[in-house]
Amino acid sequence: MTDAPIAAATAQILNAERNPAQKPVVKTFFDEATFTASHVVHDPETKAAAVVDSVLDYDAASGRTCYDSAQKIVEYVRAEGLKVEWQLETHAHADHLSAAPWLQEQIGGKLGIGADIIRVQEVFGKIFNAGTRFARDGSQFDHLFRDGDQFQIGNLKATALHVPGHTPADMAFVIGDAAFIGDTLFMPDYGTARADFPGGDARMLFRSIRRLLTLPEQTRLFLCHDYKAPGRTEFAWETTVGAERAHNVHVHDGVAEEDFVSMRTKRDSTLSLPNLIMPSVQINMRGGHMPEPEENGVSYIKIPVNKL
Ligand SMILES: [Fe+2]
Repeated sequence: MTDAPIAAATAQILNAERNPAQKPVVKTFFDEATFTASHVVHDPETKAAAVVDSVLDYDAASGRTCYDSAQKIVEYVRAEGLKVEWQLETHAHADHLSAAPWLQEQIGGKLGIGADIIRVQEVFGKIFNAGTRFARDGSQFDHLFRDGDQFQIGNLKATALHVPGHTPADMAFVIGDAAFIGDTLFMPDYGTARADFPGGDARMLFRSIRRLLTLPEQTRLFLCHDYKAPGRTEFAWETTVGAERAHNVHVHDGVAEEDFVSMRTKRDSTLSLPNLIMPSVQINMRGGHMPEPEENGVSYIKIPVNKL
């Protein structure tokens, strides 16, 4: 059975190799507080751009947000004269808040995420008892991507791939020869994303990763996080399909699905929840917006006791 979305992404990647105008420029901003890599990808010909996985700074002790990380993206976009068409989220992150709504005000772009965000909204809407005014239909976003959707960033061709496992809604965005793969694979020396959040599934993650690894070997992969594997002194967020297939410590070629699932499940049971999971999920399931203010005008973030 042919995998039509992968075939389309492969054709697009091979075309970008023959035609340098189809190769996007990528600039990455790394947030050491949450180990998140935000990427600005643009078409060198038209200057059309997309921001992938932005970060809103949040101080958990005081409950205060600030825009220092996002401001760096704004300054870069303005200095390069980019026209932002998209604010893309690979998934509803559990370890940092999205700055997409603020960035939309500053530099524009439609907010896009995977269509299965509605499943994430269902699960977390219940966990946080978000009430009937919290719409669980993805309407907080401007566009919901499905597997195989084709879109353009200026003249650059792009394909969306559904890569569930870390969450049910994870997407990879293949833009020219560059794939923004969110929380699936990490650097080869670090491995893979966890799959134990509500709605996560290690077996599904393995299958999504193996599917991504059928893309051409030279495909540039841009990751959402890096935690510096033991022995490495620099953060890194870019690798290739070939390097992952040869060296990924969890899923290099030859690793069997059952072995991955048991390794991933065992490892996940030892991990504590991310520091910012409570605010992150409640804000990111709302497309980066704060919960509706209470009658005193203040937004509150809830903590469910003995639930997660
Ligand atoms: Fe994540």
